Amino acid sequence: MDLAGLTRDLEALRDEVVSAVAGTQEVSALAALEVDVLGKKGRLGVVLRGIGGLPTDDRPRVGAVANAVRVAVEEVFQARGVELRAKELEARFRAETVDVTTPGRPIRRGSLHPIVETAGRIAEIFSQFGFVVHEGPEVEDDLTNFQMLNIPPDHPARDLWDTLYVDIDGKLLRTHTSPGQIRVMHASTPPIRALLPGRCFRYEAIDASHASEFFQVEGLMIDEGTTLGDLRGLLDQFAQAMFGQGKRTRFRPGYYPFTEPSVAFDVECVVCGGSGCPACSRSGWMTILGAGMVHPVVLQYGGLDPERYQGFAFGMGVERIANLRHSVGDLRLYMENDLRFLEQFR
Ligand code: DAH
Repeated sequence: MDLAGLTRDLEALRDEVVSAVAGTQEVSALAALEVDVLGKKGRLGVVLRGIGGLPTDDRPRVGAVANAVRVAVEEVFQARGVELRAKELEARFRAETVDVTTPGRPIRRGSLHPIVETAGRIAEIFSQFGFVVHEGPEVEDDLTNFQMLNIPPDHPARDLWDTLYVDIDGKLLRTHTSPGQIRVMHASTPPIRALLPGRCFRYEAIDASHASEFFQVEGLMIDEGTTLGDLRGLLDQFAQAMFGQGKRTRFRPGYYPFTEPSVAFDVECVVCGGSGCPACSRSGWMTILGAGMVHPVVLQYGGLDPERYQGFAFGMGVERIANLRHSVGDLRLYMENDLRFLEQFR
């Protein structure tokens, strides 16, 4: 190869590389091309190796041309690199754009469980009559759950409550909220107006109308000169507030060991309005709670003088009230925490 030939080759390589560089679209392709041309075994090197075959006098001139070609080629790589990196960065920014004005994903809001909500409504109504909410323990003793409520150990009335016992100190899971009456009497002096909401437990075979865990709200009022008429008036007000104005109510005789007399409190059927339907077994009435005048023996166990004080008590099942308010027909729904059920009570 002579001087002119080598110079031509170098210039041809330069022109080819300049147009190839201009045609690259990606940083990675440019880098590959750079290795191919300027790398150790690159094409420029191959041409330069031809210099060794030239006469000594010609070498500096070709060397100068070769250097100029290298500098020119390096410059176009450098310039195209700047361009391509800027382009790729811009594309990335465009792809990763965040629109800060986009509305956020809505947070799914929870809501009160229908039992909690119903118990809250019951408390709200009675609080308007001066009742104050108290709470007793779920693990009770036999004395408070039964004996002090006038239910002795071998009394047949114990059959009313199928009890779950706890393996410590003869304790049990309270079968009703009534033991709270005793606790309130011990802790306060009349006049007493207490409301006791809480979870209760019974040994039951579970079906649509029986649960082994359920909620009650207990009420207790004790003062001098309290009468059954006061109880009747209060419960009537409660029924109107809970189920609607103008609802008829009635007392029927009932039996509970801790009240004398004892009554069942009925409200006109909320489904048929009293004409009789399957929901009220065609009677037109629905029993919503048990109540009565606190038995003198219970007052005594509570540390109060029955000659001076009288009182009434009542106890209702929260699920029963919630069923009537929301037309729910199966107690199990309250315990399953199925969102399809719960979301209906927002
Ligand atoms: N404790 C009763 C039960 O679980 C409900 C009850 C009835 C409560 C009459 C009372 C009451 O306070 O006077 O079935």
